[in-house]
Amino acid sequence: MRRYARIIGTGSYLPPRRLTNNDLAAELAQRGIETSDEWIVERTGIRARHFAAPDVTSSDLALQACRQAIEAAGVSAQDIDLIIVATSTPDMVFPSTAAILQHKLGIANGCPAFDVQAVCSGFVYALSVADAMIQTGAAKRALVVGAEVFSRILDFNDRTTCVLFGDGAGAVVLEASEAPGILAAELHADGSHVGILCVPGHVSGGNVLGDPLLKMDGQAVFKLAVGVLDKAARATLDKAGLTEADIDWLIPHQANIRIMQSTARKLKLSMDKVVVTVDQHGNTSAASIPLALDHGVRSGQVKPGQTVLLEGVGGGFTWGAVLFKM
Ligand code: ACO
Repeated sequence: MRRYARIIGTGSYLPPRRLTNNDLAAELAQRGIETSDEWIVERTGIRARHFAAPDVTSSDLALQACRQAIEAAGVSAQDIDLIIVATSTPDMVFPSTAAILQHKLGIANGCPAFDVQAVCSGFVYALSVADAMIQTGAAKRALVVGAEVFSRILDFNDRTTCVLFGDGAGAVVLEASEAPGILAAELHADGSHVGILCVPGHVSGGNVLGDPLLKMDGQAVFKLAVGVLDKAARATLDKAGLTEADIDWLIPHQANIRIMQSTARKLKLSMDKVVVTVDQHGNTSAASIPLALDHGVRSGQVKPGQTVLLEGVGGGFTWGAVLFKM
């Protein structure tokens, strides 16, 4: 009998400071940077985002999301035997945010804990790794988390990027099960596109060398994203022997409503079948998919037994998809 990894609980957390486009535009105006609610909504669909306080880290956000997910799963934190955190904004250079999170959750059972770095595809990567570890018997009950404080790496003098991103965290508890479960996953990367979306700085000799703020060629990212998401979706459905018609919910990375609309159109899915949170959260990178999944579950949209397709795309360039029965 196949051993599946099944999502048994979801959780999420947004830091309390919420900025509407008008709030952000007013702050940017003080720096002499001009933007508007109208421009941001028309080009991206974003209306608001949350920013963490300066002393709040990715593991702090992850902790709140994980507590919710563990409660929803009806298990104890001590039952977790694997922790994977997807983040591009870790608390420290090392150790991993996952190890810090393990301690904050009070898990002292020695379970493996590590970070995955695949930028906005991070959650899909992390979920796929956890699925493989559960299938092989290396883990029974995994905590898979996406957590980001992207506000730390934004250049608030660059209006083409700083209006797009936000902070937050989302988490799921995955458990070994005879019932499906994650049905199929696809992961990809093409490192020839490193330069179109990156934070090029690094720490050396006690100094930050290079620019530690986010750089993006928005149009190049847009074109690549639309192409690869469609292919990844079809390949994942093929692997599971399903078609677009079997999808109850599409939960894509929440970067831009226009990318999401284009993906849905190519899959012949109405936008009624797409969970959308980009309007309220902005792009929270690795946190965006688990935040949207938890929103879908808690709002009653995503129900037990339904078939859900997650799709991630981001810096690297990386992309992937995970298909599962809720
Ligand atoms: N406010 C007002 N005007 C702006 C702003 C802003 N915030 N930003 C750019 N503009 C101006 C530009 O200066 C330009 O003006 P010009 O014509 O006078 O030169 C004009 O708006 C158009 O700029 P474009 O860059 O051509 O705008 P575009 O329609 O391509 O939209 C955007 C830009 C929103 C970034 C789009 O390219 C996009 O969404 N790309 C995908 C980005 C993305 O999703 N990234 C994340 C995915 S991966 C990850 O999540 C890490």
